[in-house]
Amino acid sequence: MISQNIELAKKNLDSGELIGLPTETVYGLAGNALDPNVILNIYEIKKRPFFNPLIAHIGEKGQINNLCINIPDAAHILINEFWPGPLTLILEKSEIIPHLLTSGSNKIAVRLPSHPMAIRLLQSLKYPLAAPSANPFQYVSPTCAQHVIDQLGKSIPFVLDGGPCSIGIESTIIGFNNNEVEVYRLGGIPVKAIEEILKTKTKPIFMDKKLTYPGQGKKHYSPQKKIFCISHGESFKAEKSKSIFISWKPDSKSFDSISLDGSTRSGASRLFSILRRLDTTEFEEIYIERAPNRGLGPAINDRLTRASHPS
Ligand code: TXA
Ligand code: MG
Repeated sequence: MISQNIELAKKNLDSGELIGLPTETVYGLAGNALDPNVILNIYEIKKRPFFNPLIAHIGEKGQINNLCINIPDAAHILINEFWPGPLTLILEKSEIIPHLLTSGSNKIAVRLPSHPMAIRLLQSLKYPLAAPSANPFQYVSPTCAQHVIDQLGKSIPFVLDGGPCSIGIESTIIGFNNNEVEVYRLGGIPVKAIEEILKTKTKPIFMDKKLTYPGQGKKHYSPQKKIFCISHGESFKAEKSKSIFISWKPDSKSFDSISLDGSTRSGASRLFSILRRLDTTEFEEIYIERAPNRGLGPAINDRLTRASHPS
């Protein structure tokens, strides 16, 4: 069922069910983060490997003190600046957090989303919500309630409809290691903005080949069609007749454009729904022009690169 009824969402969650949760980034597959049975269900429905930990979502900044210990000053600075919003922090976990949530790690990923319905729901609950993006493992993330129904509708009883996601790509993930600030995933807050606030350079560990978290896996966000990324102005030779070109901004020669006005915000909010829609067409090869290297551009290009990775 798709509904805007927050009470009904709470009822489902309180009885141990999973729901589709709207956030400003993408829709989540959400359930009680403190209940190992619920967490198991999330992994199962998403077909996600157990070694890939889940993000805990909270409704108020203060709740972080129940979930985390030894929070570094830099984390407090980022919380004050960017929460609520598309920023996830990796922090030392407290004892109440089940190991299943963090895949055995002593660190937990936490975020306070800015979607007003998500905040209202989270504030009404006595527990945080575990919520990975509500897509089957490795597929494109959902950016509206119908996307969740299309893919997981048979497995969950309820999707809270909060309209289309305003950001459209996942949260930026930041961790802290001694004095270093590490970027685990590019996302809705540009790394540049984080570096400006902290007055320090960050370490890009999302490129690290040794990392085994699938969010950092080479293939991700991937539709069924064959995707090729091309740079602006680069010529390309389509291998099949059923191929199309998606430009970065509106262009008379392209089938569609990622951004409607050239802004990276517009591009981010449209990216996943375009990839998803292309999967329902008869085209076999999709040539997509990369985003410019500003604002959310690097995060968009990161998704395009992973979406185009062969396996
Ligand atoms: O925008 C978002 O963050 C969305 C919405 C629903 O909040 N959620 C999301 O969750 O993207 P998911 O599960 O699709 O991606 C979470 C990423 C994974 O790549 C996972 O490896 C990483 O966060 N992660 C979670 N806990 C971690 C931890 N303790 N240490 C390192 N990475 C962690
Ligand atoms: Mg995901």
